[in-house]
Amino acid sequence: MVAVIPSAAPERLRLLVRRRRWRALWPAAAALLLCLPLSVTAAERAKELLAKALSLSANANAGGQAYAKNCAGCHGDKAWGVGDSSIPALAGQRERYLLTQLIDFAELNRDAVEMHRANASLGVAPEQQWRNIAAYLARLPINPRPQRGDGKGLDNGSGIYRDSCASCHREDGLGDDSVGVPVLAGQHYSYLLMQIRGMASGHRFTNVDFDLALMLDNMSAADMAGVADYISRLGARPTTARVLP
Ligand code: HEC
Ligand code: HEC
Repeated sequence: MVAVIPSAAPERLRLLVRRRRWRALWPAAAALLLCLPLSVTAAERAKELLAKALSLSANANAGGQAYAKNCAGCHGDKAWGVGDSSIPALAGQRERYLLTQLIDFAELNRDAVEMHRANASLGVAPEQQWRNIAAYLARLPINPRPQRGDGKGLDNGSGIYRDSCASCHREDGLGDDSVGVPVLAGQHYSYLLMQIRGMASGHRFTNVDFDLALMLDNMSAADMAGVADYISRLGARPTTARVLP
């Protein structure tokens, strides 16, 4: 999945403004167009940093130590996160995806002041640390009992998930490295909901393209809650297929 591609973006904007409901959003679309050169450079820099991190060999033990020192205070000793505080579980997440997110936080391509600070605590050339920490986290077991929703919108949520999400995130919620799609299984309800809203309103822009943001933005609050609740119940799976060679 690529970010906003300059050549494709005007076509997408045209499609967008043809739909009636979006006419009111012309000013926002124009503002987005103005930001394109900026986001393309940011996406390219993120790609370079990813290539650099991937060229290093990972030391998961050192990653565990760095995690305990800099991250466990918020994400927990087992990296299962904290549902009530919307702190995500990281254990068993795809190694490659973890790297892309650490880079996006460092480059301020993704909002979250806590993570901007945490990244700064890793020093000036953190690529080796990112690589080590991601290798450590991807090998931990997924949280078997994440925070769940109230269970009232599950039928609706499972329909939405199968129709609109499973093509990328897969039925089992384990995602896909080839297009940078994260594991959702084992994630907390409140965090999932916050990210669906956040992506719909453009808080993560290097890997969330226009169509995806629009699709999420078209969902009602009840749809978002139902699908987040459904995902939070997908259950834990073994971790081995999601680590890098
Ligand atoms: C002060 C608390 C805090 C600390 C310390 C912290 N984090 Fe986070 N982290 C968060 C919060 C809150 C989020 C959710 C950000 C958002 O709203 O998008 C997050 C998100 C993340 C994500 C994105 C997860 C996903 O599924 O997309 C990763 C990866 C991550 N943190 C890794 C780390 C690592 C590695 C460290 C240590 C170097 C660390 N965090 C330290 C609070 C913290
Ligand atoms: C076209 C592929 C695609 C589809 C369809 C899709 N997603 Fe995603 N999703 C992604 C990608 C790629 C990311 C990672 C974005 C990033 O790197 O910032 C993501 C990230 C997420 C995250 C953030 C996870 C985290 O750990 O922070 C949530 C939550 C999510 N998607 C929910 C959904 C839901 C709910 C649907 C269906 C309504 C859906 N997605 C449909 C590709 C997709």
